[in-house]
Amino acid sequence: MIQMVPIAAVADAAVEQLLDRAFGHDRHARTAYRLRAGTQAIPELSFALIEGNVLLGSIQCWPVQLEGDDGAVWPLVLVGPVAIVPERQQEGLGRRLMEAALAAAADGPPLTLIGDPEYYGRFFGFDAAATAAWRLPGPVERHRLLARGLSVPAAGLLGPRRHALA
Ligand SMILES: CC(C)(COP(=O)(O)OP(=O)(O)OC[C@H]1O[C@@H](n2cnc3c(N)ncnc32)[C@H](O)[C@@H]1OP(=O)(O)O)[C@@H](O)C(=O)NCCC(=O)NCCS
Repeated sequence: MIQMVPIAAVADAAVEQLLDRAFGHDRHARTAYRLRAGTQAIPELSFALIEGNVLLGSIQCWPVQLEGDDGAVWPLVLVGPVAIVPERQQEGLGRRLMEAALAAAADGPPLTLIGDPEYYGRFFGFDAAATAAWRLPGPVERHRLLARGLSVPAAGLLGPRRHALA
């Protein structure tokens, strides 16, 4: 039986191994990692799927902020990485993890992520319309910088949420 559990129930090393398999060992150089540098994944929004003692997939969400050009600071949630072990992809597990995180995040700040618009737009309502004027601490393909939520702010610098820094 496949079970959804808080990610804290799974060993950190197992999650890291899963992410290496899904994204490759060079994943730490990605801009998404700079966005969340120094913060911890939000426990209430981060889940794992397990079958027995086998990890099948995980999702983590991070506290980030957009510092608007007008000086206002908007808290946002960075969604991802979402990863399913290669041999269990296309079974709806990624969707299960995303739906759990989206439901848990429903009353919180707007969501952002860097990912394939074909997947996150089609199934989960993310798009790049609101993010065109965001600046990031690293390179990003603009069409993959996505957001969801009506109150997403317009222009500014995206980075780790300052009060969440250790
Ligand atoms: C992307 C990922 C999380 C999707 O999870 P999954 O469990 O395989 O996907 P689901 O079963 O929930 O959804 C399957 C559907 O999504 C589509 N899909 C999956 N990945 C896609 C992508 N990158 N772009 C567009 N569509 C995609 C499939 O074609 C399928 O559509 P269909 O139902 O019309 O056939 C998973 O494949 C994965 O871990 N990939 C490697 C890591 C990665 O790229 N993560 C996401 C980037 S942050």
